[in-house]
Amino acid sequence: MTTLNMSNPFDISGKNAIVTGGAMGIGFGIAKRFVWAGANVVIADIDAKAAEAAAEKLSGGPGKAVAMQVDISQPDAGDKMVKKCVDEFGSVDILVNNAGIFPNVPMMEMDRELFEKVLAINLTGLAYASKAAAAQMIAQKTGGRIINIASIDAIHPSAVGLAAYDASKGGVAMFNKAFALEVAPYGILVNAVAPGAIATEGVAKGMSGEGPEAERMRQVVNEMTKMIPLQRMGDPDEIATATLFLASPAASYMTGEMIVVDGGRLLK
Ligand SMILES: NC(=O)c1ccc[n+]([C@@H]2O[C@H](COP(=O)([O-])OP(=O)(O)OC[C@H]3O[C@@H](n4cnc5c(N)ncnc54)[C@H](O)[C@@H]3O)[C@@H](O)[C@H]2O)c1
Repeated sequence: MTTLNMSNPFDISGKNAIVTGGAMGIGFGIAKRFVWAGANVVIADIDAKAAEAAAEKLSGGPGKAVAMQVDISQPDAGDKMVKKCVDEFGSVDILVNNAGIFPNVPMMEMDRELFEKVLAINLTGLAYASKAAAAQMIAQKTGGRIINIASIDAIHPSAVGLAAYDASKGGVAMFNKAFALEVAPYGILVNAVAPGAIATEGVAKGMSGEGPEAERMRQVVNEMTKMIPLQRMGDPDEIATATLFLASPAASYMTGEMIVVDGGRLLK
């Protein structure tokens, strides 16, 4: 028997959330959806100015948004984000691990420093942010939601040049399941969204400029867009709505799952 709100099963009013990389792109789309679904959001981003601007844009919604500067690859990032959310709003109910980088460099040209940076941000940072948030949720005895933004590249490589990225996102897909299993007894639900090609600031920036990396990125995006059955790139809000579903009471019996939102790309 369902106890869901019949008019709005996606209501997250009064919940307190952290969105990493929330200053722009998919993360900003998620922060916006959450604020308009009633949640209070810490926009945790390495770009302090952009995070402040994002929080400002969201003022006036039913939930509150505050900005904080954090580099998710640093060992104290998780604890800092949890403290900020508790200090501002009183608890941590939802963590969205969205911050990520996607340099387009073939493995044969990749130096060790960049490979390790991709893993430190996309996988290790995500894992330790999850640990910090789950510790807080366990102490609160409230349960909670952790949502990991993976990629269709966790399932199938999109193009040459993404070996480090694909390894990191494959790691996210498996961490998502293993951590879901570990924290299920505490009522913490861990799920992922795997976006296909989404038009964001990061993708636009990667495609601009003159170097070989920008050229490869343009090629990847052009080729990928032709392969999308729905014949267009996605909008950040189309990832945000799937994320809101996973954060909401509507997803109360799901854990360790990954929802693919790719305009049908993986059908080809
Ligand atoms: N755009 C796509 O096509 C696409 C597809 C699949 C998956 N994804 C994933 O979605 C997520 C968001 O991608 P996007 O396209 O919106 O990116 P974006 O570059 O537009 O935005 C990323 C945000 O993360 C922040 N960030 C970067 N490094 C950080 C760090 N070390 N600590 C904290 N914040 C940091 C940036 O400042 C920025 O605000 C990433 O994990 C990405 O891998 C994107």
